Amino acid sequence: MPVYASSVSGGGEVVCVTGAGGFIASWLVKLLLEKGYVVRGTVREPDDPKNSHLRALEGAAERLILLKADLLDHASLYSAINGCSGVFHTASPVTDDPEKMIEPAVTGTKNVICAAAEAGVRRVVFTSSIGAVYMDPNRDPDAVVDESYWSDLEYCKNTKNWYCYAKTVAEQVAWKTATDHNVDLIVVNPVLVLGPLLQTTVNASTAHIMKYLTGSAKTYTNAVQAYVDVRDAAAAHLAVYEWPEAEGRYLCAESMLHRGDVVRILGKLFPQYPVPTKCSDEVNPPKKGYKFTTQKIRDVGIHFTPVKQVLYETVKSLQEKGHLNS
Ligand SMILES: NC(=O)c1ccc[n+]([C@@H]2O[C@H](COP(=O)([O-])OP(=O)(O)OC[C@H]3O[C@@H](n4cnc5c(N)ncnc54)[C@H](OP(=O)(O)O)[C@@H]3O)[C@@H](O)[C@H]2O)c1
Repeated sequence: MPVYASSVSGGGEVVCVTGAGGFIASWLVKLLLEKGYVVRGTVREPDDPKNSHLRALEGAAERLILLKADLLDHASLYSAINGCSGVFHTASPVTDDPEKMIEPAVTGTKNVICAAAEAGVRRVVFTSSIGAVYMDPNRDPDAVVDESYWSDLEYCKNTKNWYCYAKTVAEQVAWKTATDHNVDLIVVNPVLVLGPLLQTTVNASTAHIMKYLTGSAKTYTNAVQAYVDVRDAAAAHLAVYEWPEAEGRYLCAESMLHRGDVVRILGKLFPQYPVPTKCSDEVNPPKKGYKFTTQKIRDVGIHFTPVKQVLYETVKSLQEKGHLNS
């Protein structure tokens, strides 16, 4: 069994989490603190109240240091990473705006891995995305998608899917830089991440659900999406960091739902909200999702929270944080 199974595994080991205030990273920081790690979290504005939830985490007063760093500033990353035995690189813009997305995702990833190499860290865990895996029009629709699949850059460009484009290039650059500099790199490829929020702001993947509850989406699209709980995604990062035999990429997903299923689940669980009941596409048959396997990450000891529970807890959390009236 991987070391992940033990309750306190960090033992004072120093690790860096980039973009510590983000949705996934906040849960990762919480988990690392619970496991006894000393965490250096990079944020762009350490004094911004949007990062105050990190300081309130158990163990933060003793073992969390927030450091100012930008992905495009190598020196700031090096000073956060130097002295760490591991790095979790989660920071990235999450947007389809190519101007805001591509450079920080790609150059930022290169900067982090170069800084990790210079600092001689033991292992880097990079948060890539399913967006670097499944965007390929030539993929056999009946094939079971696993870690060997890569998105097609021309297709991402032609469809103006700049998020998937940037994440794919960033992951390619991550592997090349790690090979060139002899860095032990492990990559986690989560699907769309939902679940309770630790931070006060609403991140992009949570907004994907919120629009169905506020009345801002009048219809749902004819589209499919795979989902995973944020706590499971965070646990996957730690598991692959701690497991000596970990290698390569790890898909991180629970199940695939059509938007129609998402709104039906939300409407049943929360009938008080104006959840759309009509699809915007009344012509075409419902889109079908791809098949995938998560055997590799499950072999590292990760179990996935059922998507219905994830949706429920996402909405409860949005209510508790005051983003939705209950
Ligand atoms: N959420 C999902 O569904 C999902 C799915 C698959 C993969 N991912 C990947 O998981 C990672 C975290 O996503 P998330 O959903 O947790 O996003 P998030 O809540 O938006 O957090 C992103 C973090 O990146 C930081 N960041 C952005 N640009 C930066 C820059 N130039 N320099 C330094 N930090 C910068 C942000 O810092 P500020 O607070 O300063 O803006 C923020 O802390 C990303 O790599 C994303 O691509 C997410």
